[in-house]
Amino acid sequence: MTDQDHAIKPWGGRFSEPTDAFVERFTASVQFDQRMYHHDINGSLAHAQMLTKVGVLSSDEYLQIQQGLEDIRTEILAGEFQWSITLEDVHMNIEARLTDKIGITGKKLHTGRSRNDQVATDIRLYLRDEIDSIAKDLTRLQEGLTELAIQHASTIMPGFTHLQTAQPVTFGHHLLAWNEMLERDYARLMDCRSRMNQCPLGAAALAGTTYPIDREMTAQLLGFDSPTENSLDSVSDRDFAIEFTAFSSLVMTHLSRFSEELVLWTCAQFNFIDLPDRFCTGSSIMPQKKNPDVPELVRGKVGRVNGHLISLLTLMKSQPLAYNKDNQEDKEPLFDTIDTIKDCLKAYADMIPAIVPNKEVMLEAAKRGFSTATDLADYLVRKGVAFRDAHEVVGKSVAYGIKENKDLSEMSLQELQQFSDIIDDSVFDVLTLEGSVAARDHIGGTAPAQVIAAAKRATNKLKAR
Ligand code: ARG
Repeated sequence: MTDQDHAIKPWGGRFSEPTDAFVERFTASVQFDQRMYHHDINGSLAHAQMLTKVGVLSSDEYLQIQQGLEDIRTEILAGEFQWSITLEDVHMNIEARLTDKIGITGKKLHTGRSRNDQVATDIRLYLRDEIDSIAKDLTRLQEGLTELAIQHASTIMPGFTHLQTAQPVTFGHHLLAWNEMLERDYARLMDCRSRMNQCPLGAAALAGTTYPIDREMTAQLLGFDSPTENSLDSVSDRDFAIEFTAFSSLVMTHLSRFSEELVLWTCAQFNFIDLPDRFCTGSSIMPQKKNPDVPELVRGKVGRVNGHLISLLTLMKSQPLAYNKDNQEDKEPLFDTIDTIKDCLKAYADMIPAIVPNKEVMLEAAKRGFSTATDLADYLVRKGVAFRDAHEVVGKSVAYGIKENKDLSEMSLQELQQFSDIIDDSVFDVLTLEGSVAARDHIGGTAPAQVIAAAKRATNKLKAR
């Protein structure tokens, strides 16, 4: 970055003194918007091609522009491009370099266009690519979850409400609950993508342009579904960025829920799972420690994404039509949101298949806390006892179990019959953990057969993407 550069500004004509050095730095965005250079070049190529077709540029001029822009792309990729704060943003840096390289023809590229529709186009193009890559990460994570769910369709663990043991569930069922959250996130992401996939190019500064432009053509060349409808809205709309960040906030919220459980499950008191060493770090003072840093960090990073959502909402609030410089502030929150969720999804997609559940510990934990109490009540109801009376019988059995330190499944028939003589041998079919989960045999239930079927439906959806 050469910030002492006193090159003449592309808009300098009506100005009588140079920009204040601080103002130059304060108003520049090239430090962070240069990451959109590919999309800026692609947008310019499409614009130039369209100008050629409608007769504003000659074919020879188009070829010079095309060659010049491709050379610039190569320079940037090679790290040889000199970014200049004086030239404010990615758009003017590239345009000025084009004119350096090809002379007067470079100055014709901006015909019928403004940085306002240019930047609105670039962000959409940039975000669309990132959405496609995020969609792949989400899918890889979901594939990992559904595969692990199939492996553990019969692995029993306690299910919780209020973080108190409630009823036994299978580990596969628990993993598929996580998958459902991500399935909705994916749908939200696709929805956001389809709504934003309209081309603002041609809106120019705010009102459109007097050149005979072909907006359908640029939209098509850039892979948009259509041109945007209204020029004022085109240059000022940033709700696609808000929508994407809202999607990201929800994904991060979901990942934070998974993280919380992973952190709990890896601690010595739960010990439900092992996370391989490569996802953990140690302590500089306590030699015994293996800390679940990856889930902890993911949990912590929700804060910044939620912050970015609020930043963007606040940025848009009360903005009059059409473009305002405020909108330059959309980029850093949006870019950091993208970077953050890509890292977090990658961490999770790598980590999930590596989780090793400690089946014995999970099973033992499910036996503590009287997790089949509801099954005993349902059993009594099936034998004709009213639910409230059944609840009372089971309550007394549990009180006895607490005193004797015995789970319901560990009591003898005689012990159980103290509380109701309706109980017979068949009770053991429902009091076992296996019996309890197998009995929840309907769509959305925890029975192993249902978990396998649900995982297969989920896998088929993933394959159909
Ligand atoms: N860097 C600017 C942005 O990010 C580009 C558009 C500037 N337009 C203008 N009229 N100053 O919003």
